[in-house]
Amino acid sequence: MSFELPELPYRSDALEPFLSQRTLETHHGKHHKGYVNKLNDLVDGTEYQDMSLQQVVMKAHGDGNLAVFNNAAQALNHGFLWESMSPDGGGSPAGPLSDAIDAAFGDLNGFQEAFKKAALSQFGSGWIWLVVDSGGLRIMQTGNADTPILRGEQPLLTLDVWEHAYYLDYKNDRGQYVDTFLSDCINWAFAAKNFDAIKVAA
Ligand code: FE2
Repeated sequence: MSFELPELPYRSDALEPFLSQRTLETHHGKHHKGYVNKLNDLVDGTEYQDMSLQQVVMKAHGDGNLAVFNNAAQALNHGFLWESMSPDGGGSPAGPLSDAIDAAFGDLNGFQEAFKKAALSQFGSGWIWLVVDSGGLRIMQTGNADTPILRGEQPLLTLDVWEHAYYLDYKNDRGQYVDTFLSDCINWAFAAKNFDAIKVAA
């Protein structure tokens, strides 16, 4: 069995004018695909090859197998990223997630400010996450391929702040990219679905 590149959940031009078709096709078809292909090369014939992607991430980290970990985690993180954006994105969260946002950040504006601050202060490549832990919602930064599931944190949504995610459209202006994500692309419905699933399981 080999790992497969998941389809984008929307057309590659569906996030225009906020993220261009060129960006989506490069990011998904080159970068994400590259991680999946490299992972398959690395795990072929090993005990990793019949595990789920999450299992590979956890085991490779425990084994100290950095090459497998980096490619598996990047494959996992990118699959989560595509779902974290939507052509119908932006707006406000609803229901229990809205209440949890208000409890953690004061209001939606407080969340947006905290998320942007985290994105701008993440030095170099990495990811910004909205996660759930025992204390409620919080924003988490991870560097390179690092992912919250390593620490038992449960992600609701993520944004890729590697330069390859935004450079074609925004050059080095990470702030404008983050603002656009928060105002027009963020998929609150996906975050709410993840939040509800965690509450049911708790
Ligand atoms: Fe990426």
